[in-house]
Amino acid sequence: ASTLGAAAAEQGRYFGTAVAAQYLGESGYVTTLNREFNSVTPENEMKWDALEPSRNSFNFAAADRIVSHARAQGMRVRGHTLVWHSQLPGWVGGLGANDLRAAMNNHINQVMGHWRGQIHSWDVVNEAFVDGNSGARRSSPFQDRLGDGFIEEAFRAARAADPNAKLCYNDYNTDGINAKSNAVYNMVRDFKARGVPIDCVGFQSHFNSASPVPSDFQANLQRFADLGVEVQITELDIEGSGTAQADSYRRVVQACLNVTRCTGITVWGVTDKYSWRASGTPLLFDGNYNKKPAYDAVLTAL
Ligand code: XIL
Repeated sequence: ASTLGAAAAEQGRYFGTAVAAQYLGESGYVTTLNREFNSVTPENEMKWDALEPSRNSFNFAAADRIVSHARAQGMRVRGHTLVWHSQLPGWVGGLGANDLRAAMNNHINQVMGHWRGQIHSWDVVNEAFVDGNSGARRSSPFQDRLGDGFIEEAFRAARAADPNAKLCYNDYNTDGINAKSNAVYNMVRDFKARGVPIDCVGFQSHFNSASPVPSDFQANLQRFADLGVEVQITELDIEGSGTAQADSYRRVVQACLNVTRCTGITVWGVTDKYSWRASGTPLLFDGNYNKKPAYDAVLTAL
């Protein structure tokens, strides 16, 4: 196959990208998006501050533009993200426990209900664990007011709101075997043992020279898969250039293909010029939508 999406499909996987609604009018962006990718993740448009800036007042327009574009192109959509400490409107942090629980459940119900049946996987909870060796939960309004049970509550609400969506826990610095990924692993194992609905774990996979592709990346994906969940690479970008960057991308693709339950890869943007890592060149297309060596490495590996 001659495109990322078609090559991944031949392997029974999807190959996606983050998309930002404000670029859907740019021809180079749209041409590249439509040609190469068969899954999209709204980069910011499905976050809480974008969708529910004030309590129970929802604004779906920008995210709808992305979903409509994707569906018209036959692309699948990943939902990102329902419960996260960041890009959270201020009103949420001001609620007491009972109101916060009601607001969290309402947010999940309204958002998942709006796109019910149209989202293949949802990041139900994003980044709930701290970095470092403690394996502890990160402070957030949800953690601080509702306690450890907030994740389980969110997943139960999500299953009821859209039974067809795969429900994922998503995080970063969990790509290798370390204290943080061990904490997520223990949570997923516990959820599976107790019948808490969870279908997938997302590995953001934001890599750079300080945090390269871990040597045990594939082994880590495999141990999660062995718990009976899908694994997905959800926000891949790798700073660098040339052969070194291409080699790192190749390793990520090979790791996913070597894990049966690794169902897809999403890169965190179409082009270097719009990467959230403004100073870097971490993606597969340069600022003029030319294919980089990393692109060729990915296509060849698929
Ligand atoms: C980033 C977006 O790419 C930026 O445009 C935004 O300013 C901040 O968020 N982990 C995540 C993503 O789960 O939602 C983040 O996306 C990158 C880190």
